[in-house]
Amino acid sequence: MPQVFAVDPQHPAPGTIARAAQILRAGGLVAFPTETVYGLGANALDEAAVARIFAAKERPAYDPLIVHLARPEDVDQVAGEVPEVARRLWAHFAPGPLTLILPKHPRVPTNVTAGRDTVAVRIPSHPVARALIQAAGVPVAAPSANRFGHVSPTTAQHVLADLGDAVDVVLDAGPTPVGVESTILDVTQDPPVLLRPGGVPVEALEAVLGRSIRRAGPHPEGQPAPAPGTLPRHYAPRVPLWLFDGPPDWARTMMLDTAALLQQQGLSVAVLVPDEDRVLFADRGLMVFSLGPEDDATTAAARLFQGLRALEAQAPHAILARTLPEQGLGLAVNDRLRRAATHILRAATRIA
Ligand code: TXA
Ligand code: MG
Repeated sequence: MPQVFAVDPQHPAPGTIARAAQILRAGGLVAFPTETVYGLGANALDEAAVARIFAAKERPAYDPLIVHLARPEDVDQVAGEVPEVARRLWAHFAPGPLTLILPKHPRVPTNVTAGRDTVAVRIPSHPVARALIQAAGVPVAAPSANRFGHVSPTTAQHVLADLGDAVDVVLDAGPTPVGVESTILDVTQDPPVLLRPGGVPVEALEAVLGRSIRRAGPHPEGQPAPAPGTLPRHYAPRVPLWLFDGPPDWARTMMLDTAALLQQQGLSVAVLVPDEDRVLFADRGLMVFSLGPEDDATTAAARLFQGLRALEAQAPHAILARTLPEQGLGLAVNDRLRRAATHILRAATRIA
């Protein structure tokens, strides 16, 4: 089993960080908390160490990794050229849950970027992540520390459940605060393209850029392999997830009807719902996990993966969920729900 080091999320003990950093430098795999989700880190400049990440996660070689840095000033270590727009965005959002796609520096091994000539770069704000990267003194390649295709981990227990022996060290600093992965923005294109909604709301990026941001479709043209974060099914729990994607009143009614139908067939049902819905779903023999108040997408994001894993652990036959208002982190929450869903039911559009 990996060594698990408990660390204070705000003030990690320097001695513990130094031990983990030493293992990173020596080619080991260290799982660590970021503000979004736990990452599975390796020295980004060590091709063999990076190969171990792909093996540990059973991740296909075509899916490139994010390189994590301690400071924006270090970007020249991994990017060939840094567009002005990147510096402007980092002035506002670094450190934080924003990943920028930049032209790659030749020094970065090709397995990090899956052969692309671009590299994904992020400067995390979690004190443990920052301390680890700083102490290691190298850029740290880190995908989410889950098995490929599973729900991203927001606790050290999630990491251990998915990766166990494949990791050398796990730094356990408790649950991660943001709960969904970073926003990925491709700034090699003009205007910039949103590849994945995440911890920084698109509205905040648009306010700084003073222009609207294009969203990549599910399969952007000209991509030889499935593109970043656009694999149609990802982040999936191991139990079928039925997603009701439409107005709240419609979704609630449909969820109640569907739950009743499934239960009539002797199947056990779980629901993942805002607080406001809890009364409605109570006393019906359902497992209920609450995402917090309907209008608080930040709390929903923080609880989403925790909820999917908690319900999955109870092994119901189906999980039912509905989308949230698509503002702020609601966009990222809905994106993850749609990727996780095995069935998506949409409200019929009315014909005028
Ligand atoms: O919040 C996060 O971003 C977390 C924490 C650990 O930092 N990391 C994370 O990594 O979510 P991962 O590997 O699970 O997702 C990274 C996404 C992938 O979908 C990958 O395809 C995309 O970033 N990506 C990486 N390099 C890219 C590149 N050069 N061009 C386009 N997309 C890229
Ligand atoms: Mg991932």
